[in-house]
Amino acid sequence: MGSPQDTSKSSKFERYNAYLVRRVTSARLLAASSHLLFRATILAAVFLIFLFLLHCPPLLHSSASRVRSSNHRSLLSSASASYGGAAWEREVRRSSTPRRAGGFVVLVTGAAGFVGTHCSLALKRRGDGVVGLDNFNSYYDPSLKRSRQALLARRGVLVLDADINDGALLAKLFDVVPFSHVLHLAAQAGVRYATRNPQSYVASNVAGLVSLFEVAAKHADPQPAIVWASSSSVYGLNTEAPFSELHRTDRPASLYAATKKAGEAIAHTYNHIYGLSITGLRFFTVYGPWGRPDMAYFSFTKSILAGKPITLFRMPDGAAVQRDFTYIDDVVKGCLGALDTATKSTGATGGGKKRGPAQLRIYNLGNTSPVPVAKMVAILEDLLGKKAKKNIVTLPQNGDVPFTHANVSLAETDFGYRPTTDLAAGLRKFVKWYVEYYGVETPNKGLNKKSKVAGEEEKVAEGVAASA
Ligand SMILES: NC(=O)c1ccc[n+]([C@@H]2O[C@H](COP(=O)([O-])OP(=O)(O)OC[C@H]3O[C@@H](n4cnc5c(N)ncnc54)[C@H](O)[C@@H]3O)[C@@H](O)[C@H]2O)c1
Repeated sequence: MGSPQDTSKSSKFERYNAYLVRRVTSARLLAASSHLLFRATILAAVFLIFLFLLHCPPLLHSSASRVRSSNHRSLLSSASASYGGAAWEREVRRSSTPRRAGGFVVLVTGAAGFVGTHCSLALKRRGDGVVGLDNFNSYYDPSLKRSRQALLARRGVLVLDADINDGALLAKLFDVVPFSHVLHLAAQAGVRYATRNPQSYVASNVAGLVSLFEVAAKHADPQPAIVWASSSSVYGLNTEAPFSELHRTDRPASLYAATKKAGEAIAHTYNHIYGLSITGLRFFTVYGPWGRPDMAYFSFTKSILAGKPITLFRMPDGAAVQRDFTYIDDVVKGCLGALDTATKSTGATGGGKKRGPAQLRIYNLGNTSPVPVAKMVAILEDLLGKKAKKNIVTLPQNGDVPFTHANVSLAETDFGYRPTTDLAAGLRKFVKWYVEYYGVETPNKGLNKKSKVAGEEEKVAEGVAASA
């Protein structure tokens, strides 16, 4: 009678044993897998820290090194930052010395750029002292920037290879020369490129602007008056026309526009705290000789001559895309007008308390008559004597706006800004320069003829206005 009882007892015991063995095994497994998990987490963390160090070293700098690198060397482009020495200082002083009584002493940033070259030449021509700087980046063909630099050198303007993020270099420049004005044109321009290289816009248009304002506010003695290039793109999705400085600018359509809008806010801060006199200029599609190859009128000219197709945009409802094309000489007059009417900064050197409110202005510099881009192409076809092969597509949402149209009454009232060049006349000058600069022939033989007026030839070849 006892044996069946024993059997059931022993099998219960075995079952219990087996249960215990299972528990122990699973506990071991659990422990082993949590060890594995722990190690994997540590490994992943180390890997992430490594990646972070690789890509964002400046964010980990100590505050001391952050101050030291207020020049944002990590943002520097290919510009060689070699400067200093007696010969360098002599060259800088020579270039910056005015030739007229009461002449300005102007630092032009982005001087090897399109607008910078024309403004530097105009300032030099009227007797102001000019030193330029440019980082010669490769956003578009740097050889064009080098040619502009050579043109400026022939006219006595030195353009340094330097980046506006190099605070140490800017400080050194202000030590050597007491600049009365800064014409700040260095920036990452272009609307569409911002989707491909957003950081370049932050580096030049935000960090670079702050770097310049820092030196101007805290180091320069005397503090200079600053005139800088904002952009019509700040109007973004504004639908009221013509665009007035009083209209909304809080709906940018591109990162480029957003960085220019940020620049306007940053300008307000440096004016408010440090008493810097600051004037922002909103340029509207500037064109002309020595222009920018990334802009439509320039790239269309190249493509038409090469027999390559061009892409034209229209709005989803079929409406034409329009631009308020503004000729370079008109913009130069606007820049000089803004410099001439800029009042002195009111801050104390070293970033001390300002003596009183300083000037803070913003102006549209446009042409006031928008033209459909297709009309611009028709003018080019006429000038070049060759038809364009057109692809017409709907405007993609990558930063471009349907139209721009400037109201310039504020600039007219304050410094007599009045654009005088219509698109046909301006494009003629551009195309003349283009065929001579690139040595290309056009089917329009009249265009290939050299100017017969003495002294005019060089000006046409150089695309430089006689006055401005
Ligand atoms: N051309 C236009 O239609 C237009 C329209 C609106 C606004 N703007 C503004 O006007 C200014 C001049 O434009 P542009 O057409 O002459 O352009 P651009 O590209 O020809 O000139 C800008 C110059 O700045 C230099 N640069 C860029 N980043 C720099 C940096 N970090 N340090 C030093 N140099 C740097 C470039 O190498 C270039 O030579 C820019 O601020 C631009 O945003 C131009």
